[in-house]
Amino acid sequence: MPRELERLFRLDGKVIIITGAAGLLGRKHAEAIISYGGIPVLLDLSEPNVNDFAEKLSAKYGTDAVAMAVDITNENQIRENAELIVRKYGKIDGLVNNAANNPKVEDDGDKNFSRLENFPLEIWNQDVAVGLTGAYLCAKHYGSKIADNPTGGSIVNISSDLGLMAPDQRLYRQKGLSEDQQPVKPVTYSVVKTGLIGLTRYLATYWAEKGVRCNAMCPGGIKNNQPDDFLKEVSSRIPMNRLAEVDEYQGTLLWMLSEASSYLNGAIIPVEGGRTAW
Ligand SMILES: NC(=O)c1ccc[n+]([C@@H]2O[C@H](COP(=O)([O-])OP(=O)(O)OC[C@H]3O[C@@H](n4cnc5c(N)ncnc54)[C@H](O)[C@@H]3O)[C@@H](O)[C@H]2O)c1
Repeated sequence: MPRELERLFRLDGKVIIITGAAGLLGRKHAEAIISYGGIPVLLDLSEPNVNDFAEKLSAKYGTDAVAMAVDITNENQIRENAELIVRKYGKIDGLVNNAANNPKVEDDGDKNFSRLENFPLEIWNQDVAVGLTGAYLCAKHYGSKIADNPTGGSIVNISSDLGLMAPDQRLYRQKGLSEDQQPVKPVTYSVVKTGLIGLTRYLATYWAEKGVRCNAMCPGGIKNNQPDDFLKEVSSRIPMNRLAEVDEYQGTLLWMLSEASSYLNGAIIPVEGGRTAW
């Protein structure tokens, strides 16, 4: 790649917040950002876990990576954290709204609580609070700081291929269970991931004249020790006939955060092996 083009993807000195940074993808986002010269701010519920990872990243890349405990359902914590980061670094350039509840719902033998008929209101409220309300609160406080920059910055919302289509519940069926015990992908996943697409379009227009761009990435599933039967079934629904490797979203994230995507705004980008093209 010619030198000038390569520079387009650099994030040198850019302070970029990642929510849910201790998770599977959050760590990969942080690694992508720091390896292109950015300063990833890793937010998650508990600090020790994510702090250890941030220290390893800093040592490996010789730049700052910082970990902080912030519960994104708590507006005061977010507000204070946004102020603290601006005091520490002077600005915020980017936000990756990545945190979400992992939608696993226990059953009690008789009833499967993932099913809509049984799905507890309490879990609905918790899932929406993290995945959707949390993203709005982060956009409100970190996004406002990004809008204070003379040249704005970039917000990336991590949606899902299930923000673009309904889950195929046949994938989650288990042999030997009656219909009302069959597990399903919970309703909150579809609602939260589709809601993030609405938030993306709203934010893309809200601070556009201040140079704040907002786009959504819609990743497909990641290969992560799932049973062979499941992998075979899900792969058959994906034109590329496989799930993603965990590092296959890093390139898209760098593009969306950097000047390489300087005219990309309000875009909903599927990165799912073509699953939603079928
Ligand atoms: N893993 C996949 O296959 C996949 C596919 C498509 C989309 N996604 C999306 O990508 C994102 C990351 O997925 P993942 O697999 O890394 O998930 P993960 O469960 O590994 O990580 C999520 C992180 O969010 C944190 N978190 C939860 N509640 C929080 C709160 N209130 N405040 C701050 N942090 C909180 C958790 O502690 C966890 O570290 C999610 O939005 C997910 O829906 C994942």
